[in-house]
Amino acid sequence: MPETIALLGGTGRSGPGLALRLALAGRRIHIGSRDPEKGRAAAAEIRDTLAGVAGAQPAEVTGHDNREAAELADIAMITVPYEGMGGLLRGVEPALRDKVVISTVVPMLWSRELGPTALDVPEGSAAEQAAELLPASRVVAGFHSLSSATLKRLDHPIDSHVIVTGDDDHAKQIAMEIAELLPGVRGVNGGALRYARHSEGLTVLLLSINSVYKRHTGVIITDLP
Ligand SMILES: NC(=O)c1ccc[n+]([C@@H]2O[C@H](COP(=O)([O-])OP(=O)(O)OC[C@H]3O[C@@H](n4cnc5c(N)ncnc54)[C@H](OP(=O)(O)O)[C@@H]3O)[C@@H](O)[C@H]2O)c1
Repeated sequence: MPETIALLGGTGRSGPGLALRLALAGRRIHIGSRDPEKGRAAAAEIRDTLAGVAGAQPAEVTGHDNREAAELADIAMITVPYEGMGGLLRGVEPALRDKVVISTVVPMLWSRELGPTALDVPEGSAAEQAAELLPASRVVAGFHSLSSATLKRLDHPIDSHVIVTGDDDHAKQIAMEIAELLPGVRGVNGGALRYARHSEGLTVLLLSINSVYKRHTGVIITDLP
C-alpha cells in the first residue's frame, strides 16, 4: 500500500476533501498546484483543519508545484478540471513514470440553463486520454462519485462505493485499497479502463440528481459478494 499520495491540482474542491480523509488514515499527502505558494497555503489549511480533529495524529500534508508533488509521491491522483488535465499531464509525465495514477476527472460542463452536461472525449473518457498522455504510468480511474462536500464532513462516514476501472489489475487493487482508507467506502472493480466513460458519466447524472434533491448523492452497487 503506497504511503505517499500526490493530489495534482489539490487546491480546489475535491483535492482538499481527499487530502483530509487520506491524511486522517495516516497517509503522507503532497498537494500540487500550478503555483507552489497556493499549494503550500492549501496544505497549511488542511493541516489546520486536521489539528482540530479530536484524536487525529499530526498530519503530514505539504504543498508544492504539481511537478514536485508528482516526484515526491508513490502514487498520484488527478484532481483538476478536464480542461486543465492535458496541460497538467504533459508537464508532469516524467515524474509519473512507473507510478499508479488515479484519474478522478469527469469531463463535463456546467451551465445555468442546462446544468451538468457530459463532454465527448475523443479517446472515450478522460481516464483513457490520461493513459495516452502517460504511456509509462499505470493509469486507473475512480473516485468520480465522491462529492467534495461529503469528503469534507469529517464527522460523517462516507457510506458509498468507489468504482475503479483500469487495465492493470495491481494498480486497480491499489486504488481500491486507497478508496477503502475512507470511512464507509468500499472499492468496486468496474473492469477495464474502457468502462471509465460510464463511471465518469454516472457522476454527471448524480450531479443532476443533486440539483433536484439538494443533496450530495453517491453510489452503492447492490448484490456484490
Ligand atoms: N468537486 C467534486 O465534488 C468532485 C467529485 C468527483 C470528481 N471531481 C473531479 O475532480 C476534478 C477536480 O474537481 P474540483 O471540483 O476540485 O475542481 P476545481 O476546484 O475547479 O479545480 C481544482 C484545481 O485544479 C486546478 N486547475 C484549475 N484549472 C486548471 C487548468 N486549466 N490547468 C491546470 N490546473 C487547473 C486549480 O489548482 P491551481 O490553481 O492550484 O493549480 C484548482 O484549484 C474534476 O475533474 C472533477 O470532475 C470533482
